[in-house]
Amino acid sequence: MKREGSSTVEADDSILVDPSFQAIKGKANYDDIHSETYSLASSIYRGVMENGRRYQTMREGEYWGPADDQHFEALEAGYLSQLVMDSESPNALFQSPVENPQNVLDIGTGRGTWAIDMADMFPSAMIRGVDLFPPPVDWMPPNCVLEVDDVLQEWTWRESFDFIHMSIMLGAFSTDEWERVYKQCYDNLTPGGWIEQFEGACHIMSDDGSLPEDSILASWGDNLIAASNKSGRPMGTLDTMREQIEKAGFIDVHEKVYKWPIGGWAKDPVLKEAGRLNSTMWKSGMEGWAMYLLTRYGTPKPWSKQEVQVLVAKARAEVKNPAHHIYILARRIWARKPTSEELAKESKVTSESTQSAQQPPHRTPTPVAESSIGSKSRSPSPERPTHATPPYLESSPELEKSSVTDGTSTRGSSPQKT
Ligand SMILES: C[S@@+](CC[C@H](N)C(=O)[O-])C[C@H]1O[C@@H](n2cnc3c(N)ncnc32)[C@H](O)[C@@H]1O
Repeated sequence: MKREGSSTVEADDSILVDPSFQAIKGKANYDDIHSETYSLASSIYRGVMENGRRYQTMREGEYWGPADDQHFEALEAGYLSQLVMDSESPNALFQSPVENPQNVLDIGTGRGTWAIDMADMFPSAMIRGVDLFPPPVDWMPPNCVLEVDDVLQEWTWRESFDFIHMSIMLGAFSTDEWERVYKQCYDNLTPGGWIEQFEGACHIMSDDGSLPEDSILASWGDNLIAASNKSGRPMGTLDTMREQIEKAGFIDVHEKVYKWPIGGWAKDPVLKEAGRLNSTMWKSGMEGWAMYLLTRYGTPKPWSKQEVQVLVAKARAEVKNPAHHIYILARRIWARKPTSEELAKESKVTSESTQSAQQPPHRTPTPVAESSIGSKSRSPSPERPTHATPPYLESSPELEKSSVTDGTSTRGSSPQKT
């Protein structure tokens, strides 16, 4: 008699299906999508070696992150940690209210795991991941395409997207380049489509003073931020993305701030697990984050490979120290391109306010409230800070409240439980 669950089977034994295992509904799109991928020159696969790490060659010398097994291992742990942090949300993959996406783009897809998970979740959608380096994956769902391309080039995808996603893209672009990327996102989204971005900080913090001020980790963030500023591609993306997304014309902007623990020190079981995975990311990722930036843009002069390795070895030991109750801040922004109706209304208001501005001065001026409606599209009004909640959101029950209490955020005050 065969034991239930045994893997030893007779020829016509079927594997019993767990009735609680939910099948994904929907019809897969099995078009020959892979014919759209193109063969890549082997140099793109090989990359270029520098200081013992492999880097992409598509934009040589332009992106700080390595493209090798160690880096992909770090990204994978970071991705899993993010999923754990949002595991109590209705959907851990994203927060935008996207229900039935058809065309999705993941910019800087890295190992492609988010794109693959999205393809599994939405079998009738086409999910594209794009990166400078070919993702090291052997298999992907038929409705997922991972492409090698530079998003700073003009986009050539024929279809528009209903959802564009980015994660951990800090330091990938200069301020002007970010502007270009967000504009391309805006232009290539269907009206009403969503953009979502998740970013982590470089600064390591602790709330209980358990991280000594003279530790390597306490100065880690400043060190990397200074080098990235020198490189022209600042790593403070976490702090700048909201303003740039708003400036690109997106509305309905939502934000969630996380305290992302490093290490399993948190009492909350979700944060404990997220922290363990995040610690794995930091231990395998730190050398890759520091090597390129410090050997090129380190202070007071570029560091040697050995100097970086010594710094990272000390930092890694500090990460492993259970007495350090450390975390970084992370932020998720999601926002919407106006619908066609909103765009039409906005252009009507803009043209009306332009006309009234051209009237002779003795005519009744357009009220400030009315004329400022048109300015919410591309350039926020100079009278109000660009991070202020736009008036049309103030009454929105959907607006996420910040959950950070350390005083660095002005967006809320309740303790974070993600
Ligand atoms: C730190 S990784 C994050 C990967 C993935 N999103 C994740 O969260 O695990 C950033 C990725 O952005 C890619 N990238 C940087 N500049 C890019 C560009 N101009 N075009 C496309 N991808 C780019 C890098 O090659 C890298 O794989």
